[in-house]
Amino acid sequence: MKRCLLLISLLLSQHLFSQSGSKEISIIPEPMSMIREDGVYQLPRTITLSAPSTPELEQVISMLRESLMRPTGYVVTRQQNKGKSDLMLELKTGEKERLGDEGYELQVNAAGIHITAYQPAGLFYGIQTLLQLLPAEIESHEKRSRINWVIPFVKITDKPRFAWRGLMFDVARHFFTKQDVEKFIDDMVRYKYNLLHLHLTDDEGWRIEIKGLPRLTEIGAWNVKKTGYFGTFPKPAADEPKNYGGFYTQDDIRELVAYAKARFVNILPEIDVPGHSLAAVVAYPELSCTPAANTYQVRSGEEIMDWSHGAPPIALVDNTLCPANEKVYDFLDKVMTQVAELFPFEYIHVGGDECPKNYWEKTEAIKELMQREGLKSMEEVQSYFEKRLEKIVESKGKKFMGWDEILEGGLAPSAAVMSWRGMKGGIEAARMKHNVVMSPTTFAYLDYMQGDPIVEPRIYASLRLNKAYEFEPVPEGVDPRYIIGGQANLWTEQVYNMRHAEYMVWPRGFAIAETLWSPKEKKDWPRFFSKVEAQFARYDIAEKKYAPSMYDPIFSAVRTADSSLLITLGKESEKLDIYYSFDNSFPDRFYPKYTQPILAPKEAVMLKVVTYEGKKQVGRIIAMPLAELKARVGKK
Ligand code: ACM
Repeated sequence: MKRCLLLISLLLSQHLFSQSGSKEISIIPEPMSMIREDGVYQLPRTITLSAPSTPELEQVISMLRESLMRPTGYVVTRQQNKGKSDLMLELKTGEKERLGDEGYELQVNAAGIHITAYQPAGLFYGIQTLLQLLPAEIESHEKRSRINWVIPFVKITDKPRFAWRGLMFDVARHFFTKQDVEKFIDDMVRYKYNLLHLHLTDDEGWRIEIKGLPRLTEIGAWNVKKTGYFGTFPKPAADEPKNYGGFYTQDDIRELVAYAKARFVNILPEIDVPGHSLAAVVAYPELSCTPAANTYQVRSGEEIMDWSHGAPPIALVDNTLCPANEKVYDFLDKVMTQVAELFPFEYIHVGGDECPKNYWEKTEAIKELMQREGLKSMEEVQSYFEKRLEKIVESKGKKFMGWDEILEGGLAPSAAVMSWRGMKGGIEAARMKHNVVMSPTTFAYLDYMQGDPIVEPRIYASLRLNKAYEFEPVPEGVDPRYIIGGQANLWTEQVYNMRHAEYMVWPRGFAIAETLWSPKEKKDWPRFFSKVEAQFARYDIAEKKYAPSMYDPIFSAVRTADSSLLITLGKESEKLDIYYSFDNSFPDRFYPKYTQPILAPKEAVMLKVVTYEGKKQVGRIIAMPLAELKARVGKK
């Protein structure tokens, strides 16, 4: 009887699976090779699991058990003997060549689930894929009943394209707690990212405890809480309480490093110098070239740079460390000693970006330094600073990495470059045989708006999902050996809380993950768009936040000869239908459908749009004042 029930439930589940419309397997990042076979495997209520007993795998297994047991209510029991199990994890020494350190093979068939890898990291990534093969309800925080816990028969062979698959989290502009960073790590590893770049210091905060330099975190980690549009706030009065911020103790850092390591993530620490250093300067004004530094405050979002002349900016307060001051190198030696001890990763990132030079130009000690060292320009002064810092970093047994500005004025041979001002710096650095991580604003800046400024929290630039998906880290004519990978960066000037951080990272984080993991030829935008929608369903169940901006139309407008407004509504996917109104009411799919550029009625003041897929509303209603579109036309 039991066997009969099992058979009925198996047949039913196969039927349901094929009916559910989810027959298409949807995995981000796309695996290297995937062969779908007919049939599904039904998870038994008691799942036997066999796995090697290595310390590295113990946490992986407990995470896997938790992921399976919580939503299903099933039991996962570890089998110590080598007999047949429902879920087998296996390390094979012979797979080094085929799978490498992070690859895996995952087979699901009538016998169960079998993941093999050469290294534990490979098993971990195989598990991430397995979770995406399960019904979306596997993401639930609560037990779900009446779900058919089935997995399609499949054979997947997979390994990453790049070794460096990074996400940067700016915990300096706004402080994010240790628990927030752990959540960030949890989310990123689901898409096989393996590097977390922590931007630990900036004008708004110094976030890491350094023993012997207590003012860095007593003073430098705190500013005045301001809410609104960062960069436009008035300078705080001297007596406003500086109680907004925080920092990680060295124990916190050790815990974060261990948390990341258990998930096969390295943490790259960034200490951003010599620019972006106001928090350090306020803590220790003697590190500045400018005597008035002892009157400065940690930045609370007031304007401190004039960008109207382009880069480098003109500083309104001197937020730099002084390259002509020996105390600066003693300070950096102390900092790097402790950073090197705390973070086992091979690189330390030293920033180097956007360093204003206008205060240096006025400083006698800098002029003397230039004469003494034969430095001809302010770029060469920065280069002198970088070379001395590189020696310090290397003396701690670490490799030196910085933003692409470190190329200006010459760079020591072993330094690695993170290219952010487009791909240009990375191309130049790779030609000079430096290791390069590509992280260009053009494709990988997650602080940029994902849709129209009329709905998105405003920032000065946009990066839509379809553009992020175009990211190709290896430019034509560049030796790919020097491009060690890529990275997307979440700067947080305008990110005040973790829910908004999630909104900014996902789904663009999916796009960058696919670029960095999947073979180039596997990238497929229409398919990716549908896969993102499948992830959205999972995020809804997990109650994670994401941006629905890919559904929002791309607005553009021109004036016709008779001065009417002709409006074009672009879209990121052919699957989308846009409906609109000019009469202020809320459009739905029974309103006019956009098929070609539309003339705004003469007296209309508002265009409202909404996006559907068939009968399903997928986009949010957007209200676009026509005055806004007219102003944009006027600007061209
Ligand atoms: C940067 O975005 N300033 C590296």
